[in-house]
Amino acid sequence: MIKPIIVSGIQPTGNLHLGNYLGAVKNWVDLQNSGKYQMYIFIADLHSLTGNMPANRRRRQIIETATELLAAGIDPKKTTLFVQSHVQEHTELGWIFNCVTPIAELERMTQYKDKSQQQEKNINAGLFTYPVLQAADILLYHGNLVPVGQDQIQHVELTRDIARWFNNRFDNYFPETKHLLTDVPKVMSLLEPEKKMSKSLGAGHVIELADEPETIEQKLKKAVTATSGGGNAPGVRNLMLLLQKFSAPKIYQKFAKAEKDGSIRYGDLKQAVGEAVSVYFADFRIRRAKLLSNPNKLEKILTAGANKARVVAQKTINDVRKRVGTQ
Ligand code: ADP
Ligand code: TRP
Repeated sequence: MIKPIIVSGIQPTGNLHLGNYLGAVKNWVDLQNSGKYQMYIFIADLHSLTGNMPANRRRRQIIETATELLAAGIDPKKTTLFVQSHVQEHTELGWIFNCVTPIAELERMTQYKDKSQQQEKNINAGLFTYPVLQAADILLYHGNLVPVGQDQIQHVELTRDIARWFNNRFDNYFPETKHLLTDVPKVMSLLEPEKKMSKSLGAGHVIELADEPETIEQKLKKAVTATSGGGNAPGVRNLMLLLQKFSAPKIYQKFAKAEKDGSIRYGDLKQAVGEAVSVYFADFRIRRAKLLSNPNKLEKILTAGANKARVVAQKTINDVRKRVGTQ
């Protein structure tokens, strides 16, 4: 039986946080372990060039992001894990896709509009064509399903359009791609719970998977709960969600009941969330430290992953070259 193909990526722009985990990475691990799919997961280092990060930090962060994916449960025996720039075919297909994509469609992309505001002094062409490279990442492996958080849906929809534009102009070749959401498409910031938890907001807004228990506790102490709105306040909803995902069901039920009858104490809720998250990621922290102390092992995994991905990517590029007439 042919297994559906799953492709997803993450930029090496910071350590993994609970939003990345619940919105994407946990889903990747579950899908991988179901044994029902062929999986490609990669570090989108070329995409990260659209931002302002210095080269040394990028070099380091590629290693850390790959390490954290492994520590979170990505298994290189089951998933092809690689670094995007190690497979050059991504950029060639990206260019070809640039030539079938109307500018007007890219102008609609909300991530482009948001990022242009965030980095006013660096609105580069890469930032604009970012979703075209993302389509190449996916279609190079004939991806059927793309597990991502809510903010990436528009890019996956554009991927479907790009496949159609290519298929209409050249020859039917690329499949239809769909996004795959988790049951938690959006975790909110601790300090501004009306915004999504994102590393670009700053350290106090996010809980990183690698955070030590004391750090988690300190960050939660400052978390915004209910100034008004009671249990429906977004900060409280968010903490309850984290408790539901990371604590034993009994503990969650106790707080859910207390919330209903009005006896809930937010200090206790924060403490329970802190304990649950610290315990849940205890093994992760150990695996992460172990992997970071063995860089050769990581390098071998990433080289093997790129070699495997390249075989598929080269076949696609050869087919595409024939269709567009560069070969
Ligand atoms: P960040 O916003 O922190 O820079 P990324 O853009 O690198 O995060 O996101 C990587 C993956 O994690 C994407 O699939 C994205 O949809 C998901 N993701 C990021 N933040 C959240 C969040 N707060 N809630 C749910 N999913 C998220
Ligand atoms: N744009 C994605 C993000 O910011 C990262 C990414 C790049 C990606 N290429 C991809 C995700 C291909 C899924 C598939 O999170």
